[in-house]
Order: sequence, then structure tokens, then C-alpha cells
Amino acid sequence: MNQYGKITATARYLPDKVVTNDDLTSFMETSDEWIASRTGIRQRHIAVEENTSDLCLKVAEKLIAQAAISAEEIDFIIVATMSPDYTCPSVACMVQGQLGAHNAMAFDISAACSGFVYALTTAEKFIQGGMQKGLIIGGEKISKLLDWNDRGTSVLFGDGAAGVLLEASSEPGILKMSLEADGQRAQSLTSGYHNSQNVFEMEEKDSYLQMDGRGIWNFAMNDVTKSLKKFIADEPTVDYYLFHQANKRIIEKMARKLKEPIEKFPMNLMNYGNTSAASIPILLDELVEQQVLQLGGNQTVCLTGYGGGLTWGNLLVQL
Ligand code: ACO
Repeated sequence: MNQYGKITATARYLPDKVVTNDDLTSFMETSDEWIASRTGIRQRHIAVEENTSDLCLKVAEKLIAQAAISAEEIDFIIVATMSPDYTCPSVACMVQGQLGAHNAMAFDISAACSGFVYALTTAEKFIQGGMQKGLIIGGEKISKLLDWNDRGTSVLFGDGAAGVLLEASSEPGILKMSLEADGQRAQSLTSGYHNSQNVFEMEEKDSYLQMDGRGIWNFAMNDVTKSLKKFIADEPTVDYYLFHQANKRIIEKMARKLKEPIEKFPMNLMNYGNTSAASIPILLDELVEQQVLQLGGNQTVCLTGYGGGLTWGNLLVQL
């Protein structure tokens, strides 16, 4: 019998410390007006002592508690992140060990802000292949990658984690998927560069997150919009679009290009900034908590991620 993945639980974890735009003005030349008018962001959460694996572990614990299952029942854990604690071991393995999910295989996916969409697509294939339960988490302590002297990038991001439990079901939950990449534009967003030839000449600034803001804007407006238009062309109804939460203006403009009402594009970036791979599942969990979305309620949502790589992708999910 064919089986498919169904989302049966959602959870999020945000570190306690909140840094508002006004807080940033105490150590950099910026303003709430500049940040909010260009991006919509008003504050972000910053992890002080916790690392990415700590944020993801909190999400994993919440997911198994909510589903009332034991950690041993989990078959696989996938973490999407661009800010892992270590290059090796993976965040997913750290979560597996601390959770006591001894029967789970575990690995990370590196697809920047598209990471959650890439990870959920991968997870669906494992479920279709016979696995029963997987944790799919997007988690970032992106604050440690930032050059806090660079006001052009540091104000945009925030830390956080969120995820879902995907369980085998006879009913399809993930109706359609598309993933794309363009490595020729890899330099549009980089972070954590290690120069293998001139290790003694490497400057610290080379490893900080760097971004071609205009280039990313054009990428979102052209490639991501084109791919999404094609993706939804034959779909009768999409109840909500859960976009990667990078920038309010990008989402508003995309809604206009798709000729869909802005009410179908919920946003929370004002509270969290851009949390990269965590942004879509944080939004999903908030909407479930607010009962805008109901797990098992049959609403159709389109998850759209785009970011470094360049990578982008869409998932049509029936809840
Ligand atoms: N506060 C005050 N002034 C600032 C700040 C700041 N935080 N940052 C930059 N400025 C100044 C610049 O120094 C520059 O001043 P100048 O004209 O005197 O040289 C001016 O503001 C304009 O700077 P730009 O970098 O050209 O700003 P722009 O208008 O392009 O806006 C932004 C930047 C918001 C990032 C824009 O390019 C954008 O929306 N890009 C889309 C990409 C995006 O949102 N990326 C997020 C992460 S990537 C992702 O998730 C996929």
C-alpha cells in the first residue's frame, strides 16, 4: 500500500532575548524608520548562550511531547540550517543524541533560506519509501555569522527554530513539490568562507555573511515569482502562501504579481527578522496555534523558500 507524509505536529522555539530596532541604534548608525520601511522588521530574537542545536532540541522535545510519542519511535531527523554548531557532527545528530532518538538516522541539509522546503521534500521521499515518523526542523543561530559592524546585513536577521512531525498516512499530505538551484549566482549570498590556499592570509571579514541585496531582490522578483506562478497555475485553490520571511516588500510585491489578495500571505517577520531555514516553520506553527490553520483540516498551503545557493522551491501541502 502506498503511504505519504502528513504533518501531525508543529512547534517553534525562540530564544528569550529580544533586540528591537531601537536597541540596535545604541551601537550602529541606523534607525527603526530605515529598517522598518525597507523590510518590515521591528525586532528579532538573539540566542545568547544557546547554539543552533539547543534551539532545535527544544523544538524536537516539543514535537514529541505534543504527539505523545517516545523518542525511540522517530525514524529520522533532518535539520535544515546554515549555522550549525560544528561542520561535523551535524545538528541533527546532536539533537538525536540528546533527545534519545536512538532508532533515528540523522543529517543536516544546507540550502540556506530554502532549507526547510528542501528538507520537507526529502522527508516525504523517506516516508514514501517506508519510514513512519520523521522530525524536520529548520534552526538557525544566524547572529553568530553576522558582521555586527555591517548595518546593511546585520539588521535583517534573527535566531530561532521550528519544525514539524511528519508521519506516514494513507492520504497524501504533500501534493506537489518543486526544487531549483542556480550555483552560478552562488556569490549573491555567502557565509563561513574558508580559504583553503592562503589560510594565513584569510581575513575574518571574509567569513561573515555577505549579501548582494539588490541581486537577491531581483532573484526573488524574477526567478522565484516565475517558478511559483508555474507551480500554482493549475491549482484550484491555495488557502495561504507561507513565504520565507525575508522582507515585507518582497512578499507584498509577489502577492501583486500573483494577483492574490495580501491576506493570503501571513507575515511575522516584523517580530523575528529573517530566520533563514526557520522562518517558514515558525510561521506555520504560529498559524496553527492561532487556529488560522488546522492540522487535519484539509486546507491547502503553499510553502515557498528562496535564498543562498541560490536555491528556491515550492511545496503544496494539504494539512
Ligand atoms: N540603516 C541605515 N542606513 C542603512 C542601513 C541601515 N541598517 N543599511 C544600509 N543603509 C544605507 C546604505 O549605507 C546606503 O546609504 P548611501 O546611499 O548613503 O550609500 C543606503 O542605506 C542604501 O543602501 P542599500 O544597501 O542600497 O539599501 P537598499 O535600498 O538596497 O535596501 C535591502 C537593502 C533592504 C536589503 C534591499 O536590498 C532588499 O530589500 N533586498 C532584498 C533581499 C533581502 O531582503 N535579503 C534578506 C536576506 S536574503 C534571503 O533571505 C533570501
